Amino acid sequence: MSKHTFKKDFLWGASTSAYQVEGAYNLDGKGLSIQDVKDIPDGISDFKVCSDHYHKFKEDIKLFSELGLKGYRFSIAWTRIFPNGEGEINEKGILFYHNLIDELVKHHITPIVTIYHFDLPYELEKKGGWSNRSTIDAFLNYCKVLFERFGDRVKHWVTINEQNMMILHSGAIGTSVNSQKELYQQNHHLFLAAARATNLCHQLIPDAKIGPAPNISYIYPKTCNPNDIIAAQTCNAIRNWLYLDMAVHGRYNNIAWDFMKKKKIEPAILVGDMEIISSAKPDYIAFNYYSSITVKAYGENIILDDTGDQQIEVGEEGFFMGDDNEYLELSDFGWEIDPLGFRVTLREVSDRYHLPIIITENGIGAYDKVNLDGSIEDDYRIDYLSRHIEQLKLAVSDGVDVIGYCPWSAIDLISTHQGFKKRYGFIYVNREDNQLKDLKRIKKKSFYWYQKVISSNGKEL
Ligand code: BG6
Repeated sequence: MSKHTFKKDFLWGASTSAYQVEGAYNLDGKGLSIQDVKDIPDGISDFKVCSDHYHKFKEDIKLFSELGLKGYRFSIAWTRIFPNGEGEINEKGILFYHNLIDELVKHHITPIVTIYHFDLPYELEKKGGWSNRSTIDAFLNYCKVLFERFGDRVKHWVTINEQNMMILHSGAIGTSVNSQKELYQQNHHLFLAAARATNLCHQLIPDAKIGPAPNISYIYPKTCNPNDIIAAQTCNAIRNWLYLDMAVHGRYNNIAWDFMKKKKIEPAILVGDMEIISSAKPDYIAFNYYSSITVKAYGENIILDDTGDQQIEVGEEGFFMGDDNEYLELSDFGWEIDPLGFRVTLREVSDRYHLPIIITENGIGAYDKVNLDGSIEDDYRIDYLSRHIEQLKLAVSDGVDVIGYCPWSAIDLISTHQGFKKRYGFIYVNREDNQLKDLKRIKKKSFYWYQKVISSNGKEL
């Protein structure tokens, strides 16, 4: 095999998440999640209808098949299976995912299932959510049902999507709590939940693979001033390595732990917790990459605001501050575009953990326009994705073991905090933030482009 080619069974895929794409937020017994009840600013869509994938999944999967997808990464809504997060199983919810998975299998598309993507059941939130250790047991019970009911057909699992963003940008993601200390306690419980889910998956579906899916962005120092290097190392530790060190090695990253201690926000760890965490061995690392991040040393007397999101790093008082990278352009929504940073991040993750990697998100949010003739010319998306796949190829030639690539998103859906106008899909959905219209599906120019990428196994970009 030439070093510049992808493996023959490379999983060319695309991603979505339940609460952003499905809609039908209260149908067929589904309970409310924290995403269904969060405050939504004026002018931005709620999550009630989304792209109505719940009703249109057959039509959508037909399009995914035409696109040539080998894999489809989607998440299961915990509240469809357990409307209250625990208690009685909702068989109608099970049936929906049975049908979805069967449809994928019928079209020879490998299901890649995220167990939990930001949508904690609201009933559990009312009891303290992830601050309450009993949520871990409820999660495990939910996982058990998924493994038992879907494990015959689902062999690729992802435990928790972007645990690091739930902790670092809880406002944007919809999981806010009162204090940073509480967030880091939740973090510890999420680590335990992921570890126990990993072990349970291995026990119940011995031929399945499972791994975590944090959002990993390599952190650059603003300059070669050693103070900036220290700042970047600290940011790398608390944003990236904390999550992967725990998932792979089962230990707290020492720089991240020191950061928590200095801020007096370190979590309480009960006897036996670390044994559980270190007993879990993921089969791969799934990670989401959108851009790199640049930071510099923390300046004295600077008060940081709270305007950050997944890719906009504001900083941590006393430790580092986010800065721009003058070598990079910005997307319509202010995220830096850094294809080389993708290779840098892939190399670093591979070098640190020596595990196969599957990319579970990568993409560009943009204002797509439908032309008068009905076409959508999203050349900026083709440009973004082709430059990232080129770097993915180079990472493969560097020796990084990449087994799949699932850009965000298969089809237009609602962004975490910027509504429907921030589109990511290969397939356009005809609706706006404030107007549902007919929800018609339209193939974008990038659809035809990605079709060629897949059929040529990444040769034609
Ligand atoms: C990731 C999430 O943070 O990035 C997705 O896993 C999200 O749920 C995606 O949609 C893009 O971010 P945003 O904020 O533009 O929707």
